[in-house]
Amino acid sequence: MTTTARPYVGSALDRVEGLEKVTGRAGYAFEHSPDELLYAVPVQAVVARGEIRVVGVDAAVVLPGVIAAIWYGNAPRLAPAENAELDVLQSRRVAYRGQYVAVVVAETPEGAGEAARLLRVEYDAEPHDVELRADHPDMYRPDRVNPNYPPDTERGDPDAALAEARIVVDETYTTPAEHNNPMEPHATVALWDGDGLTLYDSTQGASAVRDTVAPLFGLPPGNVRVISPHVGGGFGSKGAPLSPVVLAALAAKHVGRPVKLAVTRQQMFAVTGYRTPTIQRVRLGADIDGRLTAIVHDAFEQSSRIREFAEQTTTPTRMMYAAPHRRTTHRLVRLDVPTPAWMRAPGEAPGMFALESAMDELALACGIDPIELRIRNEPVTDPESGLPFSSRGLVACLREGARRFGWAGRDPAPGIRRRDGLLLGTGVAASTYPVYRRPSRATARCEPDGTFTVRIAAADIGTGARTVLTQIAADTLRTSPDRVRVEIGDSALPTASLAGGSMGTASWGTAVVRACEALADELDRRGGDPPADGLEADADTTEEIDAQPLFARHAFGAQFAEVAVDPGSGETRVLRLLGVFAAGRIVNPKTARSQFIGGMTMGLSTALLEESVMDREFGDYLNHDFAQYHIATCADVRDVEAAWIEEDDPHLNPMGSKGIGEIGIVGTAAAIANAVHHATGIRVRDLPIRLDRLLRQSRNSAPSWPRR
Ligand code: MOS
Repeated sequence: MTTTARPYVGSALDRVEGLEKVTGRAGYAFEHSPDELLYAVPVQAVVARGEIRVVGVDAAVVLPGVIAAIWYGNAPRLAPAENAELDVLQSRRVAYRGQYVAVVVAETPEGAGEAARLLRVEYDAEPHDVELRADHPDMYRPDRVNPNYPPDTERGDPDAALAEARIVVDETYTTPAEHNNPMEPHATVALWDGDGLTLYDSTQGASAVRDTVAPLFGLPPGNVRVISPHVGGGFGSKGAPLSPVVLAALAAKHVGRPVKLAVTRQQMFAVTGYRTPTIQRVRLGADIDGRLTAIVHDAFEQSSRIREFAEQTTTPTRMMYAAPHRRTTHRLVRLDVPTPAWMRAPGEAPGMFALESAMDELALACGIDPIELRIRNEPVTDPESGLPFSSRGLVACLREGARRFGWAGRDPAPGIRRRDGLLLGTGVAASTYPVYRRPSRATARCEPDGTFTVRIAAADIGTGARTVLTQIAADTLRTSPDRVRVEIGDSALPTASLAGGSMGTASWGTAVVRACEALADELDRRGGDPPADGLEADADTTEEIDAQPLFARHAFGAQFAEVAVDPGSGETRVLRLLGVFAAGRIVNPKTARSQFIGGMTMGLSTALLEESVMDREFGDYLNHDFAQYHIATCADVRDVEAAWIEEDDPHLNPMGSKGIGEIGIVGTAAAIANAVHHATGIRVRDLPIRLDRLLRQSRNSAPSWPRR
């Protein structure tokens, strides 16, 4: 193994594909237009539960340019999928409103759209049940929660400890369903060539799409190629293949020509997943100096009839704070709703809203500064597994954040600061995200001209993955980034793990380092000169990752918020957000900062705006566009700053890095809710912090709120 100075890792290299992107040359999935291309427009169920009786296609198929109308009655048969969401058009059953029930293929998108409107889908509708309640009689304990954790944990006797505790916080928090809306909606161009299938697909993992789609069509994985060099965001919604990519492949197979399918923004609210709504009860027991004796966190969530998606809401509570008596649980109910999926920090984001709101309530109940409270409950080892932390930077982040934010001297009394008629407040919350790493393969090649090509089926979903892999390769090869070309985004490249779970850089970077080390060693053996036809080395990190020693590996952060609340309207403005993170070595400060502030901005959206509203009568989420599903705009986002502490953790990977894609969103909503409480004296335990929620509570609970 070679050891090298790493001058490029840690430097703010510009995005290597930046010029391609800003000049419009970077091709996204939808932009591929092979010859003979047709357009597919799906039809979605308008009942939340029932059976398709028949689909009347007569009026549609006579339109000029319409090639086919495909539904259960005439669709090609697929092998059953592990994820029943992918059994597209394989059954008469309707599992949720918005599920794909048919697709029209035509020469133009307009023609396909018009024909889709003319399809007559007749249903036998059945009564539906779409309402998440903690006391739902069908609540059950899933066997595992994502990605593979036990649903419940318990240490000591938390009930007895709560009964004996001097100070108890016992509150219920709720978070709504939220829908992922990357700038580029999901899109696929599917082309068959005999038994070979090529998919230009907007995905977070080309290898995973290949391995999932191939068996549905009875093909070996090698017959499917998935190409996605550029992806306009995903946030988890493109992390695993969903129904649109299968529908595109199925439609193309049926008509025997290439088919392009773009998911519209409106369709995204049914078929590309969402964050489950949660109901969370948190109980904290403490002695009078704020030392926790008991932590109990119970989460209630939903999934669809056709797939169990069990989000890991209370898992961060297992490792955040010391307490001898503790319990975490997850309960799930299967409803007639679309299947939830991953959305940036799935689990940690809603779970830490509840825990970190409760910690703020405990700080007030004990009369202890909320930063000091967290420091007092810092565990020495992972409180549930007993494992040592590979590194744990929470206290350092809290202290550094307090210094930068100007926390010292803060008066904890709520509802006493005013400026220009607005109530002002500040809040803090902790953040955390696990450090994952998955096996990947990579090749590194020295070209005859002395430049290098690195190949790996990684995905750059806008994060800067291609850029950081270039830096990592350059350092390992002891060359400069402009002599390294990194090829990603194609399943024909060496198999790689997903751009998900904040593990891309750690997983792919390890494989790239090992391949480049092997190549550098081989070049050294040959005296430094590449042979005339080049030289290649490869790496597979399966053994290395399987053999890694056990540690509790997590990134940490501290989120600070300052808000101004208008006591007349309840309008809340986030004046300042500061996040300070401990995420190992920062490989590229420019792309890292963009990940952190992007996550924090999404957290601001979570706190104040994002909410998918379930309509009980229709059995569907009502708001299907940006007019009604609100996300933070530039006007909402003022002063957002991210910083990090130096962290030297030898137990991670060759780069010493932790993931940074998701931790930015974790804790942000709690910091804002805590700041709103500090400003107004009103504790909003249900996200988002809407005007009506503040005003309703202001009538009876806020002494500082002006009487009207
Ligand atoms: Mo992320 S929600 O794990 O893609």
